[in-house]
Amino acid sequence: MLAIDPGKKLSFNRLISNGDLVIVYERHDNMKAVTVAENSVLQNRFGVFKHSEWIGKPFGSKVFSNKGGFVYLLAPTPELWTLVLSHRTQILYIADISFVIMYLEVVPGCLVLESGTGSGSLTTSLARAVAPTGHVHTFDFHEQRAGSARDDFERTGLSSIISVRVRDIQGEGFPNEFAGLADAVFLDLPQPWLAIPSAAKMLKQDGTLCSFSPCVEQVQRSCETLQNCFTDIRTFEVLLRTYEVREGKMENLNGDNNGSNGSSLPCKRRQRSGGSYAPDSTVSSVMARPCGEARGHTGFLTFARLKCL
Ligand SMILES: C[S@@+](CC[C@H](N)C(=O)[O-])C[C@H]1O[C@@H](n2cnc3c(N)ncnc32)[C@H](O)[C@@H]1O
Repeated sequence: MLAIDPGKKLSFNRLISNGDLVIVYERHDNMKAVTVAENSVLQNRFGVFKHSEWIGKPFGSKVFSNKGGFVYLLAPTPELWTLVLSHRTQILYIADISFVIMYLEVVPGCLVLESGTGSGSLTTSLARAVAPTGHVHTFDFHEQRAGSARDDFERTGLSSIISVRVRDIQGEGFPNEFAGLADAVFLDLPQPWLAIPSAAKMLKQDGTLCSFSPCVEQVQRSCETLQNCFTDIRTFEVLLRTYEVREGKMENLNGDNNGSNGSSLPCKRRQRSGGSYAPDSTVSSVMARPCGEARGHTGFLTFARLKCL
């Protein structure tokens, strides 16, 4: 998925090979992850696509089915992976993920501890942020879930940057081997306040912590515990408003395509002799309007910095 070797840029010019993971894109809300296998086919409502015809094409290519239907073959990125991964749990989405990476100050070379792993949605982005020299150690107490996450990281080529372990972090805390070594800790646990004292022990001086909780009661309890060892405690709720962008026809009420004031918006209507207004022609225009099904509350993100002694 990622260019782990710093000499190799994540390049969309790379050609698709047998065994590569590709994101098959029909529309922004219809994508799936497919591993290319020379003798396989992908079948969908547009027809049958032979994998063998994908091999050797650049990522981003438009490929055609036996019926002339098409899909795009995109290079897998953490952003796309979050949209196609199998949901074994609730997951973090792009708006929260990007905020977490920024506020936790995760950069290449960082050591990050995370619990729980869940479906590995956040873990995948953390891995890209710390690559190529950093590492993400992620813990989940659910053995099967941890195993599936490990399989996913293998499939996405991230297993050298992510270690998955089975552990009850609320009960046992993080392993002592990481004491004082972590640049950042991320918690997505039902009772994060139980893991906060251990997280404090793991962090380097000035290290950062983030806890994601869906309910404000969890936030209050976490903040009470954070006050013992942390400073700069802040909680955010990231609300994302998505717009649908469509091309459509608009009435040109000015008689020219640009409008008399130089803008593309109609500014003055031409009056007919009878007193009514008439459009001179229609023009193609791109329109944006808020999506009906925009995602609302996901959770609260509480950030804090370890107090310097
Ligand atoms: C909501 S999911 C995390 C989702 C993840 N942030 C993502 O983006 O995919 C919460 C996970 O925490 C795990 N969990 C709950 N209690 C735990 C504990 N005491 N120790 C470790 N993991 C725990 C659950 O098994 C679950 O997989």
